[in-house]
Parts: sequence; structure tokens; C-alpha cells
Amino acid sequence: RRFRVAVVGATGAVGETMLSILAERDFPVSELVALASERSAGTTVKFGDDDIVVQDLATFDPSGIDIALFSAGSDTSKVYAPKFAAAGAVVIDNSSAFRYDDDVPLVISEVNPEAARARPRGIIANPNCSTMQMLVALAPLHRRARIVRINVSTYQSVSGAGRSAMEELGRQTGDLLNFRGIDPQKFPVQIAFNLIPQIDAFLENGFTREEMKLVWETHKILGDDSILVNPTAVRVPVFYGHSESVAVELRERISVDEARAILADAPGVEVVDERIAGGWPTPVTHASGRDPVFVGRIREDLSHPNGLNLWIVADNIRKGAALNAVQVAELVAGEG
Ligand code: A2P
Repeated sequence: RRFRVAVVGATGAVGETMLSILAERDFPVSELVALASERSAGTTVKFGDDDIVVQDLATFDPSGIDIALFSAGSDTSKVYAPKFAAAGAVVIDNSSAFRYDDDVPLVISEVNPEAARARPRGIIANPNCSTMQMLVALAPLHRRARIVRINVSTYQSVSGAGRSAMEELGRQTGDLLNFRGIDPQKFPVQIAFNLIPQIDAFLENGFTREEMKLVWETHKILGDDSILVNPTAVRVPVFYGHSESVAVELRERISVDEARAILADAPGVEVVDERIAGGWPTPVTHASGRDPVFVGRIREDLSHPNGLNLWIVADNIRKGAALNAVQVAELVAGEG
């Protein structure tokens, strides 16, 4: 069977990658519909060798769409995802609009694929990019020895904030190297040659929403609210690829060798862990444009008998967003 597939937000950083991954993986598409705002209606996007004309989401009739991949922001998802679902489509939504609703499954294809089957509202949510790569790596360790606590600091690339954020990093870098002034727009301060310890809005507890996503989504995906998660999320001047320094405490001790063996066997994980210069993954050298979640710097926590430290790197636009959405679409397509 082939499917009529809609990509909503097709002109964006994630939407464009959804199109290329659908083509790359030969997803059984009978018709591909590219949707965005009226600003880009009439322009074209690439789907394999084809140029697809972008249509205006606001005036598009969703009847007959089988699967819709949404990545056009929460506000757009809140309005249009229910309309597509009511018209019979299965919606896979990359925004945070429905992630914490009990009747919307939150699915990582390698971690909890079975959850995709129960979707009373016809909507499946794609996790936040930082949670995605962290849990692809941690879920196999959790299955072996149960996680008690996760301390995580993220180093998140600007592509996670969309196309305009990537343009801002490029522009500021050029301006600063040419002794010109800069005018921050997308970020509150200079992002080039700098670090920004705030992603998304502050909440009452002093954490940002981006940080709390790591807490809420870990609980929902692993189905265990007792796991303690202590996150710090930082934006870094990297174009593609998020990195995470993770200290995980388990109920039982796992040796470094066993952790390496578990991770080497884990779906979607590639271990890059040699204790030599360059023997670890970076966003530029390993993750950018690639599918796996890379794990390196595996070592025992000096301060805790059942603790492990990991360095986890992945392409936030691919596994962190577009790739997982397409993998979930493959689960749905495989249901027959
Ligand atoms: P457009 O290009 O027409 O603005 P990014 O995260 O890279 O900035 O991309 C956001 C994506 O979401 C783009 O494809 C953008 O389309 C789309 N989008 C944003 N707002 C809307 C809207 N109100 N209706 C439809 N698509 C939207």
C-alpha cells in the first residue's frame, strides 16, 4: 500500500529534512503534499528528484491525506493537527503542542514503538530533540539496571531554533570577523563566539521550559515518574548537532565495558569511545547529516558507585526531529 503524505512546514529546517528522509528511505508515497504559510505558497521544495509546489496550509483541504508530518510550530499544530486527524489522517507532530496530553503517545522509534499504536486522537507526538538523543542512549541502560537519577547539561545547536537562527549565527560571525557591529534578533544576546544558558521561557521553578521538557518527556517515554532528572540547557554557536554531558545513576553498578557492550548493541546508537585524541564524537565530525546517536567518553562517575558519565551527540534535525518522525510514520505504515 502507498500513502498520501503531507509535510506541514515543508519550507522549514525540519520540514525540508523530512522531505529528504522520506525520499532517502523510499517511504511508500503515492502523493506528497508540501504545505507552509501563505508567505511561501507557490515556491517549490525538493522531494527526491521532484520539485513540489508548496501550498497554503490555511486553505488546504486535508481529506484523503493518510499521514501528516507537522513541523510548523505549536500554534500551527494546535489549530491544524486536529483538523487533519478529523479528516482521517494520522498526524505525527514535531511541536510540543500535544506532547504532555495523556491521550497522545510520545514516541521514540527505538525506545517505545509500541506506544504509537494507541492514538485515540489520531495524533502521535515527536519528542523534543534533546530528550530524543538522550533516551535513545539511556533506555538500554535503564532496561538493564533501572535509572535512579540523570544529571544532564546540553550544548544545543542553533538549527534547533529554526532557519532564522542559523542565519543569525552566520551573519554575526561574518560581521564580527569584519569588525562590524551586530544586532541580536533571534537570540537575546550575541550567539556567535558565545554561549547562552537559556532556551525557551523561564518557568516558576527557575528552570526553562526546554529543561523541563527533559524531565516531563523522560517520565512519559520511559513510563516511570520516579526517575530524577536535573537538566541545564545551553545554546552554543554550532549549526547542526546537539551534544549532552550526562551523568546517570543506576540502581546497580554497570561496568564501563558492559555499558559499551550494551550501547554497541542498542538500535540507533553508535559508540565512538577511544581514549585518544579524536576518539570521541563531535557535532561536526560525527553527527551532522547522519542518523545515529553517537556515544563516547563512557566512564565511571568518580563520585558515585553506580554512576556512569556519557557524552551523547546527534543531529538534532535528523534523529532529533525529522528522522524520528519518519520512523514513526514507518511504524504507522507497517500496521497495514
Ligand atoms: P513559511 O516558510 O511559509 O514561513 P523554521 O522552524 O525553520 O523557521 O520553519 C518553520 C516552518 O513552519 C516553515 O515551513 C514555515 O513556513 C512554517 N510555518 C510557520 N508558521 C506557519 C503558519 N501559520 N502556517 C503554515 N506554516 C507555517
